[in-house]
Amino acid sequence: MDTQEAKVYLAIVIIFGLLVIFLIFFFITLIRHQKKNIQLHKEKIYAEITTLEKERKRISADLHDGLGPLLSTVKFQIKSVEVNEDDDRRMIQSAGKHIDDILIKIREIANDLRPTVLVRAGFARAIEEFAETINISGKIFVSCSMEDDVSFGDKEGEMHLYRITQEIINNSIKHANTLRINVSLKANDKKIFLRISDFGKGFNMQEILKKSNGLGLRNIMSRVEVLKGDIFIDSSLGNGTTYSIEIPNN
Ligand SMILES: Nc1ncnc2c1ncn2[C@@H]1O[C@H](COP(=O)(O)OP(=O)(O)OP(=O)(O)O)[C@@H](O)[C@H]1O
Ligand SMILES: [Mg+2]
Repeated sequence: MDTQEAKVYLAIVIIFGLLVIFLIFFFITLIRHQKKNIQLHKEKIYAEITTLEKERKRISADLHDGLGPLLSTVKFQIKSVEVNEDDDRRMIQSAGKHIDDILIKIREIANDLRPTVLVRAGFARAIEEFAETINISGKIFVSCSMEDDVSFGDKEGEMHLYRITQEIINNSIKHANTLRINVSLKANDKKIFLRISDFGKGFNMQEILKKSNGLGLRNIMSRVEVLKGDIFIDSSLGNGTTYSIEIPNN
């Protein structure tokens, strides 16, 4: 090999080397950029969901602690009005009855926004209570097999899992055309396992995610992400749907 040829080879090796270095640098930057985007996306979801729960908590407290006592006072004042006519008395009684109905409705809405049973008695009991309200209808039977001593690190995590379970059960009621839904909750040292199955018509997950405008499934995924958990959805047309959710047991 003469010197001229050697120089050409050297130039090729250098150019090739530079190209490899450039490509490595390019891919590292690309991966870093993607990781950063994923992180930002997760933080955005986290902020949205926690803000939503905080707002629900605030509205629930305002309804329960603000509007409730105010209406009770109004009821007391109306009842204290002295009347002589029977018609007036009936009118006052009817107004009192309406205020009672409003108070019950307010309590229901406040409870839906921030279920007191969840705060008081925990996830397992709250889901059992939710199932009981469905079973009363007599049309669909939700059976629960819950380990009572599963404890959650924080109430917020418990609230996310409660909302996830509610949406999954509501979806089965709305879309699955099923008569039966099973919910089971177990835990070991490392993880909490939640499994919900319906025996309905099932769906094609990939197709639905592309087509559907619904928010439910997307919110379920986001909440599982906030919980740093995993979700597995096993569904196919005609074979029912099983959701398996695993979250770290802190
Ligand atoms: N258990 C199920 N069985 C059959 N189909 C289901 C089931 N769960 C969800 N789907 C299908 O997936 C779609 C998307 O569900 P998703 O909860 O995201 O939206 P939605 O329930 O239609 O509306 P939203 O939850 O926003 O009120 C549903 O419209 C339905 O077609
Ligand atoms: Mg839904």
